Amino acid sequence: MKEKSIKPRKRWITDWWPSRLNLRILRQNCPTQNPYGEDYDYIKEVKTLDIDAVIRDVKELMRNSQDWWPADFGHYGPLFVRLAWHSAGSYRIYDGRGGARDGSIRFPPRINWPDNIGLDKAIRLLWPIKKKYGRKLSWADLIILSGTIALEDMGVKILGFSLGREDIFEPDESPDWGPEEEMLTAKRGEKENLEKPFAATEMGLIYVNPEGPGGNPDPAESAKEIRVAFARMGMNDEETVALIAGGHAFGKCHGAESDKYLGPDPTNSPIEKMGLGWDFKHKSGKGPDTFTSGFELTWSLTPTRFAIYYLKFLFDYEWELTKSPAGKYQWVAKNAPEIIPDAHDPYKKHKPMMLTADLALRFDPKYAEIAKRFLENPEEFEKAFAKAWFKLTHRDMGPPTCYIGKYVPRETLSGRILSPRRTLM
Ligand code: HEM
Repeated sequence: MKEKSIKPRKRWITDWWPSRLNLRILRQNCPTQNPYGEDYDYIKEVKTLDIDAVIRDVKELMRNSQDWWPADFGHYGPLFVRLAWHSAGSYRIYDGRGGARDGSIRFPPRINWPDNIGLDKAIRLLWPIKKKYGRKLSWADLIILSGTIALEDMGVKILGFSLGREDIFEPDESPDWGPEEEMLTAKRGEKENLEKPFAATEMGLIYVNPEGPGGNPDPAESAKEIRVAFARMGMNDEETVALIAGGHAFGKCHGAESDKYLGPDPTNSPIEKMGLGWDFKHKSGKGPDTFTSGFELTWSLTPTRFAIYYLKFLFDYEWELTKSPAGKYQWVAKNAPEIIPDAHDPYKKHKPMMLTADLALRFDPKYAEIAKRFLENPEEFEKAFAKAWFKLTHRDMGPPTCYIGKYVPRETLSGRILSPRRTLM
C-alpha cells in the first residue's frame, strides 16, 4: 500500500522561517535568559530613570533626525504612534497573549507579520535611545513612551504614562499565534464566528484586513470584523471609534508601487541586514517610494497635528472605490478638490481618501452615531481618544498600584483619584 504523505503543519517560527539563524547553541547552560544577569531588577532600575531626558531625546529624534529613513511631513510622530499601537493592539483578552507589556514586537513572529512592515525601521530609529539608557529603560516602555510622546507633541492632551513594562529576551514560540500555513490567510472563522482565543482575523495582522473582509471592499462587512477584533482587544464601540478616528488623524499609508519589489521580512533577510527587512527595490525604496501596507493615502489636512478632519471628510464626502498604485482597493472622495498635503513634495496635493475599514465608521449605524457625536463635539472626541489610548497601552500592566513614574495619571479609568496629574512635556 502506498504511504500517504502528511504535510507537517507550519506552527512554529522555525517552520515559517527555516533560514532563521539559530542561536540556541549560544544559550547552552546559560543560568538565565536575561542578558542583564540573574540579579537584574527592572522595576528597581526604571525608578532611577530620568524620564524627562528620555522625552527630550525622543522629541529631538522625531523632529530633527530624518536622513536615514526620511520622515513623512518632517515628523516621525505618526510612525511611532503606529509602532506603539501595533505593539499594544495585538493583545487578546482570551489568553492575554500579545500586547505591549513585554516588548515582544521586536521578535519573530510579530516583527515579521506583514501588518508590521516598516516597524523594523521605527525600532531601529529608537535604538540609540535604548542604548543610551540601557538597563534603566526597557524596549517595551520605550516603544509605548515614544508613541505617547508623539501624540502629545502632535497636539493630543494625553492622560499620562506609566513606566514598568519588563522586556522578554526571547520570542514567544508558542503555536497559538494561529493554525495557518501562509501569511494573510484566515483559518480561524469569520466575524462573530472567529475562533477563540484569536482577535486578529488573519495570520500576520494585528486586527482586520484594511481592504475589507478577505479583500472584499465592503465597509458594512468590515465593521462586523472590526467589532469582533476590537472587542477581543477589550474595546467597546466608543473606544473603537475613538481609537481609529484618533489614530488616523495622523500620518499616511504607503503603497508607492506593486509589492513585487518587496524583499523578505527581517528574519528571512540576509544576516548583514541585522534585523532590518522588507527592502523595497523600487526607485529609492523610501520617502515617496515606500511600501508598507500597499495603500497610498493620507487622511487629514494636518497629518502631524491632531484635528477633526478625518471625521469631517468621512461624513462630508461620498466615496468612490479606486485602487492604490500597488493595486489595493481604497476609496477616494467624489468631486473633492485636491487639498491633502503630500508627505514629501510641498507643491503636490491629493484628494481625501479612506480605507474600507475607515468607511466602516460611517456605514455601520452604531459606529456612525458615535463618530457623528465626536465630530460635533471635538473636545469629547479628544478626551475619548486620550482615555482609550491610555487603556490600550496600559491595560496589560496590572492594577494602577503597578504604575511607575511621575507622569502616572491623577485619575484611574474607573475615576479613582491617585495623585496630581502632570503633562509629559
Ligand atoms: C480597523 C482598525 C485599523 C486599520 C484597519 C488600520 C489600518 C492602517 C493602515 C493600512 C495603515 C497604513 C500603514 C502604512 O502603509 O504605512 C495605517 C496607518 C496608521 N495607523 Fe491605522 N489602522 C487601524 C487602527 C488604528 C489605530 C487604533 C491607531 C492608533 C490609535 C492607528 C494609527 C495609525 C497611524 C498613526 C498610521 C500612520 C502611520 C504612518 O504615517 O507611518 N490605526 N493604519
